[in-house]
Amino acid sequence: MPRAAITAVGHYVPEDVYPNSYFESYLDTSDEWIRERTGIRERRFARNGATSDLIVPAARMCLEQRGITPADIDCIIVATVTPDYFFPSTAAVVQRKLGAVNAWGFDLSAACSGFIFALVTAAKLVESGAAKRLLLCGADKMSAITDFQDRSTAVLFGDAGGVVLLEPSEDEQVGVLDYVLYMNGEGGKYLYMPAGGSAKPPSLETVKNREHYVHQEGRTVFKEAVVRMAEVTLEIMQRNGLRAEDIAWLVPHQANLRIITATAERMGLSMEKVMVNIDRYGNTTAATIPLCLSEWYAAGRLDYGDRLILVSFGAGYTWGAVYVRWSLPKPKD
Ligand code: COA
Repeated sequence: MPRAAITAVGHYVPEDVYPNSYFESYLDTSDEWIRERTGIRERRFARNGATSDLIVPAARMCLEQRGITPADIDCIIVATVTPDYFFPSTAAVVQRKLGAVNAWGFDLSAACSGFIFALVTAAKLVESGAAKRLLLCGADKMSAITDFQDRSTAVLFGDAGGVVLLEPSEDEQVGVLDYVLYMNGEGGKYLYMPAGGSAKPPSLETVKNREHYVHQEGRTVFKEAVVRMAEVTLEIMQRNGLRAEDIAWLVPHQANLRIITATAERMGLSMEKVMVNIDRYGNTTAATIPLCLSEWYAAGRLDYGDRLILVSFGAGYTWGAVYVRWSLPKPKD
C-alpha cells in the first residue's frame, strides 16, 4: 500500500487583527491576564463570509503550489465545528466555490482534534486507493459561536483556515506513518455548544440564554488537556521508538501556551522545536495544526524527511497524535 503524503499546504487568515486591548475596552480583563494565562496577544476575526471562505483561499494556495487545477481533486474533507450550514456540508460548498467538479467529500466533527481525526481518515482513503488527490481542510470561524460578552471564552478564539493536499507516495519513508486516537464522551459537558442541535433546537429562550455559543469549564478542560496531550505524545513516541532528538517539530493544537509548554517538557523537547503561533492567532480550533504547518513550510523551516508529531486535545473529549515524516523539500525562494 502506498503511504499518504502531504504534497502541498496552504492557509488563510482574515485581515482584521484584534489585539488583547480590544477586549480590555469593554470587558473586565487585561492584556496581562490574557497573555500570562493563554499566551495569546492577538487573533483575527472575519467580518464577513463563512467557514468555506476561510478554506477556499487556502485551498487555492495548495493547488497553485502543486501546479494542479480544482478539477484534479477527487475528494474534499472539511474538519470544522462551525460549518456554513448544518447541511449541505461545508465540503459541498467548498467544492462549488472552488469548481472542484470531480470531487466527492464530507465534513468531520471532532472540534479541536478535527484536523488530526480527519488526517487519519484521509490517509486511509489515500492508502487504499479510494482517493488520489484529497484536499484536507481544517477551518473554523469561531467568532460565529463565541459569546463576546463572556470574558472566560471570548479572549481565546480566532478564525482561520488551513488546507493540505494528500496524495499517494511510493516512498515508504515519508507521509502519515502512525497515529493514536482517543475519545471520551464523559467530557462532553465541559466544553460544548448547548443549543441549536436536535437535543435543544433553537428557540427564543435558547437565544435569550446565550446557549448558541461555546460554553467551557476552562479549568477542568485545562487539567485534562495537559495530561492527555503529554500521554498521547509519549505513547506515539514509544510505539515508534522515537527519542526527543529524533523529532524535528512538535506541532501541537494551539489552545493554551501553558498546555503546549507542559507537553514539550514531558517529551524532553526544547521549545525551539515546537511550533507556536497562538500568540498571533489564538485558538482557531480545526485550523491550528495546518496553519502551523503552512507557515513553517513557507518560512523554509520544514524539510524532506523531518519527523513531526502532530498532537491535539479538544471537545468530546477527543485527543490524538499523528506521526508524520514531511514529504516536501524546502520551497525555492
Ligand atoms: N480576564 C480576567 N480574568 C479572567 C478571564 C479573563 N479573560 N477569564 C477568566 N478569568 C478569571 C476567572 O473568573 C477566575 O476568577 P476567580 O478565581 O475569581 O473565579 C480566574 O480568572 C481564574 O480562572 P480559571 O478559569 O481557573 O483560569 P485558568 O488559569 O484555568 O485559565 C483558561 C482559563 C480558559 C485560559 C484555561 O483554563 C484554558 O486554557 N483551558 C483549556 C482550554 C482548552 O484547552 N480547551 C480545549 C481545546 S479548545
